[in-house]
Amino acid sequence: MERFGASFLIAGVLTFLLGFFLQGVMPILTLRDVPIETLEEIAKTPTADFVQLSVDYSAEFERDFGEVSPQSFAEALDLGRDLYIAEACWHCHSQFVRPISNEDIRFGAVSTAEEYQNEMFLPHLFGTRRIGPDLIREAGKHSNDWQMAHLYDPRSVAPYSIMPAYVWYFDDYQRPLREALALVAYVQWLGSWETK
Ligand code: HEC
Repeated sequence: MERFGASFLIAGVLTFLLGFFLQGVMPILTLRDVPIETLEEIAKTPTADFVQLSVDYSAEFERDFGEVSPQSFAEALDLGRDLYIAEACWHCHSQFVRPISNEDIRFGAVSTAEEYQNEMFLPHLFGTRRIGPDLIREAGKHSNDWQMAHLYDPRSVAPYSIMPAYVWYFDDYQRPLREALALVAYVQWLGSWETK
């Protein structure tokens, strides 16, 4: 075997270089000119659910985000997405409706590539594990109140849920803190662009 040592080394290095080129360099060369929508562009028109959030939790909303505006919407989405990553919600939830197994009947329209061509999906949150349902069509499936109750105590609305309770995003009177508002704004945004 020893005399093949050099061959294995060269083969290994070449395989690495080939992989690096095909999966690293090629995608960059192909995709670098495709424009990426910025958060500011996305947040230009706050969604109906975000406006409703400012009505449902007016005191908390005003304290944490002021008024409904493109700026406050961008702030909430940005924070919500960061918390979604930090709490590893993506560990249990995917954000991609696959074109198989009649997934569209359960979750909604099959996902398309351009939906993810924006800053909110850097890094992408497709996810692979599905302990809970896919969330990319979550917008409007439930009310803000439902989302809030669910975040505080999932079993209060889904009796057999194994989703953790995120009580630390609420004060001693069970009122939402800035983080809870942001998380609900974020999940209610997911798929809000889908009109089908
Ligand atoms: C341990 C796995 C797990 C984690 C972590 C988790 N979830 Fe869940 N989630 C579930 C399960 C299971 C369900 C389905 C039962 C239910 O509704 O509670 C669910 C349901 C949901 C739903 C309702 C979906 C629908 O329309 O029925 C939302 C919204 C949601 N999760 C958001 C989140 C967010 C936001 C986080 C992070 C802060 C999170 N989840 C973290 C397991 C998880």
